[in-house]
Amino acid sequence: MSALGFIHRYEPPREGSRRTLLVLHGTGGDENDMLAVADQIDRNAGILSPRGKVLEAGMPRFFRRHAEGVFDEEDLKFRTDELVEFVAGASVEYGFDASQVIAVGYSNGANIAASTLFRAPSTLAGAVLLHAMVPFTPEQEPDLSGKPVFMSAGENDPIVPAAQVARLSEMLRRYGANVQIAWFQAGHRLTLDEVRAATDWMKGL
Ligand code: MLT
Repeated sequence: MSALGFIHRYEPPREGSRRTLLVLHGTGGDENDMLAVADQIDRNAGILSPRGKVLEAGMPRFFRRHAEGVFDEEDLKFRTDELVEFVAGASVEYGFDASQVIAVGYSNGANIAASTLFRAPSTLAGAVLLHAMVPFTPEQEPDLSGKPVFMSAGENDPIVPAAQVARLSEMLRRYGANVQIAWFQAGHRLTLDEVRAATDWMKGL
């Protein structure tokens, strides 16, 4: 375990980029899983890719759940705060710009990225949420004014119902985020088309 509290991979930004992607894998993934996706989305950005610390039947996740789609909210909040601390510590340790961190999360990783936007908005300059759900309903509305968020979703996703996607995008917009949402004829799996769409979105930032 690293002194920063998470097993993780780190790569510094290249070619004058100041951006770092906080790369967050899905259930059963690890810190290496999404590196190719992150590289496609922004090849010059730095990468900070932690491994989720919760194990479900041996599969790493970023927070506990009671059942499929039913989150342990207390654990989610605790783990979100832990992740926020990790990002802050890593920015000091590695010297990257903490104001230029964009989350790229898939599934469980997208859910903790959304939770981070809700709980600690200043941690993220923006987010790519691939197959995300509503993490929880904040008691106090976070200020996400002007934050760019890209969401992608599968029309036939058996894990993320369309109503969840709609609700999350409405919440993010209500809190001020600048949300772009893209639907694909797909299930829960990440597709090349949505990675391309996220890449185009990132180029426009
Ligand atoms: C979650 O538990 O975060 C979501 O259900 C997505 C997943 O299956 O990991």
